[in-house]
Parts: sequence; structure tokens; C-alpha cells
Amino acid sequence: MPSQTSKTKKMKAIRDEILVLKESPLFEYRVSNKYFPVIGEGSHDADIVFVGEAPGRNEAKTGKPFCGAAGNVLDQLLEHVGIPRKSIYITNIVKDRPPENRDPTSREIEVYGPFLDRQFEIIQPKVVVALGRYAMGYIMKKFGLDQEIEPIGKAHGKAHKALAPWNDPKTSKSAYIDIVTLYHPCVAVYNPNNLPNLKKDFEVLRKYVQD
Ligand code: URA
Repeated sequence: MPSQTSKTKKMKAIRDEILVLKESPLFEYRVSNKYFPVIGEGSHDADIVFVGEAPGRNEAKTGKPFCGAAGNVLDQLLEHVGIPRKSIYITNIVKDRPPENRDPTSREIEVYGPFLDRQFEIIQPKVVVALGRYAMGYIMKKFGLDQEIEPIGKAHGKAHKALAPWNDPKTSKSAYIDIVTLYHPCVAVYNPNNLPNLKKDFEVLRKYVQD
């Protein structure tokens, strides 16, 4: 198991590389708007890592993930299932804000995806929660679940088992990981009537919460 200090060092290295990531199609936009990249926030020892799509305006202004309207919904959903925000790690596939909150392009996902892979390696979570179709598509492919990918309208609220590319410290064999696919919280920002359905889907996470 990597030590806490080495985990922090590795996360800082990711931040330092992204800060100067000139090959990113979003680099110029970030610099000219004096935005921050959003690397991630939370516990480096988290059992659960949540992955969103890309930072919005509030996130790019502060460098913190899910701190705007979608973050407000996420906080309500976490509270609903008794998961303290500080116990998890929250990040996005794309670490810089796309202009006008447009969908990320495949090139952007290709550029930032390897940083997310490294974050998984550092944290070695037991559960990865993909918020929305972009996170779902990238993560399911990463963990070899290509064949199980469905439209998010069908995949929401489901958990899939996969083999992780790291070992379980107890058995020294490949670790199993659960990939949970959920609607993106912004679905309830656009239409608050969706909140009860999102809460219901989040209940799939209750089994991972320690008493
Ligand atoms: N939407 C995301 O996908 N991520 C954030 O950090 C904020 C909004």
C-alpha cells in the first residue's frame, strides 16, 4: 500500500503536470480566464471515488470539484445515503472547464483520461461511481466492461464488478472493484422534479457505507 506522503506527492505531481498542460485544447481558455484546473478533492484513502464530467464555472474559479449548483445536488444525494463528503474522493474526467459548459470532446477525454487513471492507481478505491454518461463510458472501458455499456437511461442505479489493475493487499491477487453508474447530478439542476429519482438511485451506494 502506498504511504500517505507518497500518495500526496503523486497527486501533487498530477496537479503540476496539468497546470502546464499546453497540449490540452482547454489550456488557453483556462489561462485567459484565470481559471484553475480542478484536480480533485477528498481523502486519498477513500473507499469510494466519484467521477463527474468536467468543471463548471464555479469549479474553475475555485479549483474545487462540485462546488456550484450540481455540487449542491450532490451534497443532498450524499446526505441522503449517509456518505460524508470528506470520506470520499471527488474528481472529473476532464480537469479543465469546457467553454459554456459544453460536453467534453473525445480529444479532451483522451488528454485528461490518463490523469484519472493515475488517480485511481494512487487511491485504489473499492468503488468508483461514474456520474453521467461521459464518466460511465470512460470508466467502464477502462475496467474492461465495454460489453456492459448501456445508455445512461438504462444504466443508472446499477453496480458492475470488475478486476482492478492493482492487487488486493490482503490476498496479493488482483483486487475487485465495483463500478456504479448514476445520472449526473445536473439532471436535478435542470429539473428539480428529478431529485427523488436520483435519491432512489443513490441508495445503491448504501451497501458500501460502513456503520
Ligand atoms: N459538473 C461536473 O461534472 N463536475 C463538476 O465538478 C461540476 C459540475
